[in-house]
Amino acid sequence: MKFGTKLIHNGFNIDKETGAVSTPIYQTSTYHQFDIDNFGKYDYSRSGNPTREVLENTIAHLEGGECGYAFSSGIAAICSVISIFSKGDHILIGKDVYGGTYRAVTTIFNRFGIEFTFINGENLQDIKKKIKPNTKAIYLETPSNPLLKITDIKEACKIGEENNLIVIVDNTFMSPYFQKPLELGAHIVVHSATKFIGGHSDVVAGLVVTKNKELGKRVYGVQNGFGAILGPQDSWLILRGLKTLKIRMDLCSSNAKALANWLNNREDIEMVYYPDLDGHVGREVHLSQSSSGGAVLSFKTSSEEKALKFLRNIENTSVGVSLGGVETIISYPAKMSHAAIPREEREKLGIGNNLIRVSLGIEDIDDIKESFNKALSL
Ligand SMILES: Cc1ncc(COP(=O)(O)O)c(C=O)c1O
Repeated sequence: MKFGTKLIHNGFNIDKETGAVSTPIYQTSTYHQFDIDNFGKYDYSRSGNPTREVLENTIAHLEGGECGYAFSSGIAAICSVISIFSKGDHILIGKDVYGGTYRAVTTIFNRFGIEFTFINGENLQDIKKKIKPNTKAIYLETPSNPLLKITDIKEACKIGEENNLIVIVDNTFMSPYFQKPLELGAHIVVHSATKFIGGHSDVVAGLVVTKNKELGKRVYGVQNGFGAILGPQDSWLILRGLKTLKIRMDLCSSNAKALANWLNNREDIEMVYYPDLDGHVGREVHLSQSSSGGAVLSFKTSSEEKALKFLRNIENTSVGVSLGGVETIISYPAKMSHAAIPREEREKLGIGNNLIRVSLGIEDIDDIKESFNKALSL
């Protein structure tokens, strides 16, 4: 079965009790036990809920993993995965991961005795070099946010295997339609389902998929024990969004590729970052592990003033935090996704005050280009 069909007919989509083709929303916190000696499958919705379970099974199926888990946000999913580790464990983590992930590991988990070392995901030697006797995992984000830096997942996983490490990949930017890290050797995939998976900028959610049941058990232990679960209404919204993932991603990514090339040909643009752009560092690696450049690009204007003028004047798009919606969303990483990183650190990472990130929506590309042309020409 191909991916587009799997999104619609995946064995979990039809309600076993009623035949409903839209998964019912089981808005319940608890479950009556008909037999006090033998409890039913569900007892309390933090531990399990049928609507959430359909979403969890569906994402596991789409990513090619054994177990899926749904959380109240992407960062809750990420923090829950990091919580399977213990005091004294060491984790290698990409130095340009999402700003919220950076904040979580540098201000929360470090206080609980989990040690982190930042790595340059583009440089496999850097990963090898930083492994220590207590290293337990490698955490990657590829393409990274917002500079779309590429890590070779397969090669990173080989290093992981040689050193008995768990490889975790944030697959938010690509979605399982374009990239399947578990097939490349990773053990855990995390998502901000708030983005492309939900796809409509109307729900905050996170997902985790594990390659095997043993890791699944560990993640479930945190999901149930820490309790950052996704509610049934939001699970349903994510399931609804997921059905159109393929057609949205196809259109959003073809818009992104067209806009990247268009921006790249403008003299007033200093730099364009897009994984499927001629000359993008890591392009070949990216296209060997993903079927598209995706729907997100970044570009640098000639100055901070130009960037601010553009942001104040761009029309027919949304200017804000987030990405992955049906509408084109323009972000200013310096003040939004990466505001948590100190300016000096941010600039070292190449995320200056003239950098703009664009998540393409499903609008007509001619209209997008016209809006950009107007705002850039002021
Ligand atoms: C790549 C990536 N991972 C994780 C997150 C966090 O997800 P959420 O905002 O759903 O908590 C984001 C949010 O922007 C993201 O871009």
